[in-house]
Amino acid sequence: MVRAAQIFYLASSQFDVTLIMDYPFQVKTLGEYEAAYARAQADPEAFWADIAQHFTWKKPWDTVLDWEFTTPMVRWFDGAQLNITENCLDRHVTLYPARTALLWEPNDPTEASVEWSYQSLLERVEAFCHVLQARGIQKGDRVCIYMGMVPELAVAVLACARMGAIHSVIFGGFSAESIVDRVQDAQATAIITCDGAFRGAKSIPLKPIVDVALTQCASVHTVVVLQRTHEKVHIQAGRDIWWHEALPTHGKPFPAVAMEAEDPLFVLYTSGSTGKPKGVVHSCAGYMVWSTYTFVNVFQSSPGDVHFCTADIGWITGHSYIVYGPLAAGATTLLFEGVPNYPAPDRLWQITEKHQVQILYTAPTAIRALMACGVQYPDAYPMASLKVLGTVGEPINEEAWQWYHRHVGKEKSPIVDTWWQTETGGILISNLAGVTPAKPTFATLPLPGIQPVLVDEYGHELVGNDVSGNLCIRFPWPGMIRTTYGDHERCRQAYFSTYPGYYFTGDGCTRDAEGRYRITGRVDDVLNVSGHRIGTAEVENAINMHPKVVESAIVGYPHPIKGQGIYAYVILSSSCATALEEEALRAEILQEVSRHIGALAKPEKIQFVSGLPKTRSGKIMRRILRKIAEGAQDQLGDTTTLLDPTVVESILAGCL
Ligand code: WT7
Repeated sequence: MVRAAQIFYLASSQFDVTLIMDYPFQVKTLGEYEAAYARAQADPEAFWADIAQHFTWKKPWDTVLDWEFTTPMVRWFDGAQLNITENCLDRHVTLYPARTALLWEPNDPTEASVEWSYQSLLERVEAFCHVLQARGIQKGDRVCIYMGMVPELAVAVLACARMGAIHSVIFGGFSAESIVDRVQDAQATAIITCDGAFRGAKSIPLKPIVDVALTQCASVHTVVVLQRTHEKVHIQAGRDIWWHEALPTHGKPFPAVAMEAEDPLFVLYTSGSTGKPKGVVHSCAGYMVWSTYTFVNVFQSSPGDVHFCTADIGWITGHSYIVYGPLAAGATTLLFEGVPNYPAPDRLWQITEKHQVQILYTAPTAIRALMACGVQYPDAYPMASLKVLGTVGEPINEEAWQWYHRHVGKEKSPIVDTWWQTETGGILISNLAGVTPAKPTFATLPLPGIQPVLVDEYGHELVGNDVSGNLCIRFPWPGMIRTTYGDHERCRQAYFSTYPGYYFTGDGCTRDAEGRYRITGRVDDVLNVSGHRIGTAEVENAINMHPKVVESAIVGYPHPIKGQGIYAYVILSSSCATALEEEALRAEILQEVSRHIGALAKPEKIQFVSGLPKTRSGKIMRRILRKIAEGAQDQLGDTTTLLDPTVVESILAGCL
């Protein structure tokens, strides 16, 4: 146990001065990385206390770490009080109020972009805190946010954090039913939304979808609506208010609420292999330290760098590397409303040039999609400001890696392949840009404080190098999941029960002869489609809602752009008479998936089958279905244990 000293406040003000030049906890050489890794392992409490003292705390901690992985129970910086927004905003405003905190690039390149200083962002956050407070929102209340990628989305998130409300951002592509699931699970009292959102050539309604959801959300008493598309929307008196009308007319400070270190900062729902999405809960102090530490070290960012993460704030990548990490580090974060290929496939390169971006962080699926459009697009832009490229969300194939390196990075910017998850809060395994060596398709080395373990199917640890197994982590890190909202047992079950004593990631992984890690993909029934996590059970449940569907089974298959595509095997109550009828039914099934989850979970292929390959105990043998979907008919393996082996023949005969 380490006692925080009285000099604490002094230390944080010293940090603010050094922050202008440099980050005190940035490792800059391979030797420094090795030393930090060794110290974090040998004396984690002293290591993290040294890092944490460079943040602004309202009250120092009593204990650095308390943990066990059985219940599980993980507490970092217990006894401390803080507010993450003082670290993301106030302390920067004190020293350099005019530094740009946020740049926003609209969907339509002819519309003006937005540039907000740290001072301006703080004022907007404080003003919006007053809006929420006037509606009775208090510390601990849950607030859902369902918006497009507008700068006010960052304001909404930070305002919740400043007043201690627990935000739950719902990606703007999710359906009304997905909103209902999330609002009900969190018992949210307010929703912040927009009239609609611009994405590429489309204008997407948001408020109308919220209206549908709200017929089943009795806990919600307030809806704040931001005007963006100016489509006419329904405003329900007493419940709905316009953002611009509710804002106070005069600038009024809003003091940041003191949060306990382990108070929840936010909930973010993510799919697992079973049931409905889980509400992953992150804590105030640990998450702040982890998102900032990883941002500064992985991207080797310097204060004031322009950081362009193309993710949506509706995903964890946006939380940690658009909002919290870059702002806590005093960087300039760039939010983009649109999509990479609108109005043309040079949009990301044009934005990079326009805003003089230093760090570009995107997903393999975007790289592959742009790669397919041709080299002429990136080649037309020198992008001389770029220093670091990053990738996240799924394994990156060698071809995409090389293209990114050559045509975007012009062979001079290191690529960081960052492996992590919603549950990990921030990056766990990655090379550090220009500091530790990259290896294409490898995430390479764990961050200081991360102790990866590979286990075989029985949970035996695979020691030494040149091994493959299931990836687990054996020691807590500050940014890890604390619980699943409202159901701690589900957290234990999902992450801490498969291999007792370890946090299980759900990913398969190889450790090469030099000890570098390569993530090979999920080993559970979770698909990764365009970097989005999709639970097979959820899609099956949605398909089964169609009145003509008896049963279905979903598997992933390799897709050249999306990484994985969704293949659905569906049993109907009565077969279709014509091909036309089949087509119509396919469209209805797709609609069913859109309605229950969202368009992102729509299968690419739907094959109608008369039966599914099941074992005698009634379990679907997905291994066989995966092989068929992949087109590897010759590798089906042993099918003799099936209840009815002839099912396989008939599926093969009709496969797409
Ligand atoms: C799953 C987590 C982490 C933010 C975005 C996704 C896969 C993530 C990589 C990578 C190979 C990766 C894993 C992981 N994944 N990054 N660099 N290389 N696979 O967050 O939705 O929670 O998904 O994405 O399978 O388990 P998420």
